Amino acid sequence: MEHISDYLCRYKNYIFISCMINAEHIDSLQSFEIRDSDIFLVTYPKSGTIWTQQIIISICELSGGLNEYPNNYEQMPWLEYMESHEPYSLRPSPRLFSSHLTPALMPLGLKDKKAKIIYVMRNPKDIITSYYHFSSVYSEVDTPTSFEQLLEQYLMGNVVGSSWFDHIREWHSKKDQYNILFLTYEDMILDLKAAVTRICSFLGKNLSEAAIDQVVEKATFKTMKKDQKANYEFVPKERLSGNFMRKGQIGDWKNVFTVAQSQRVDQLIQEKLGDLSLKFIWE
Ligand code: A3P
Repeated sequence: MEHISDYLCRYKNYIFISCMINAEHIDSLQSFEIRDSDIFLVTYPKSGTIWTQQIIISICELSGGLNEYPNNYEQMPWLEYMESHEPYSLRPSPRLFSSHLTPALMPLGLKDKKAKIIYVMRNPKDIITSYYHFSSVYSEVDTPTSFEQLLEQYLMGNVVGSSWFDHIREWHSKKDQYNILFLTYEDMILDLKAAVTRICSFLGKNLSEAAIDQVVEKATFKTMKKDQKANYEFVPKERLSGNFMRKGQIGDWKNVFTVAQSQRVDQLIQEKLGDLSLKFIWE
């Protein structure tokens, strides 16, 4: 494990928060036993993870049979972190997991294509803007000295989650190996009900129109911000002194990027992902 800053380390070509990671656990994930009913939410950090958690959990709750946990973090823990949870192998089905990992670090059993993966992506400019604000209130990552400095680190992939470009490339180029649904944060902002309906259908959950509306209501920014199980205000103040749920908007990047910085990101997207024939909704 190579320490790349006071708070971050590189292991297996991926950047983790040092205090949250255990190399042995990461190694063990390769042979982690997958159940057909497992559901994984995979994102690059700051792409809308806790929002999609709320949607998936609400869908599973309304369709019945979900064990109760004190909050969404416990209900849908990060596969790569082993905090004080019960061993994942002892959790009742259906198990819900979150992850920021790349395909190379994920359990090989996912390639049986039975367990489901939902991958959410977001405009990388809004991601780094969100991370910029988050890093000044979260004690377990480096506090940037300026936006410019953070952007440099981000474009080099020296931030939690490594390179956004690699994350997108890896998951998209390996999509045929998995049972995976791709969504964007922007899809969810523009039509939350349509996104919830797509997730329901992918998960094979046949919810009534009224139940779908209930999920949508639970997942609005306004409702979630007040929902103690979902808003992550349960994270101790010494770890997080601000909010996970900050603005919840498209385009906040315009408040921090210069025109030149924005053009540079556009150019890098073209250079690094142009061959994937992905149509990014935010363009
Ligand atoms: P902002 O910082 O731009 O507001 P993650 O969960 O992957 O860390 O992502 C956090 C981002 O998702 C934050 O973005 C947060 O506000 C946004 N978010 C969380 N819940 C949301 C919701 N219900 N609607 C819209 N955005 C939401």
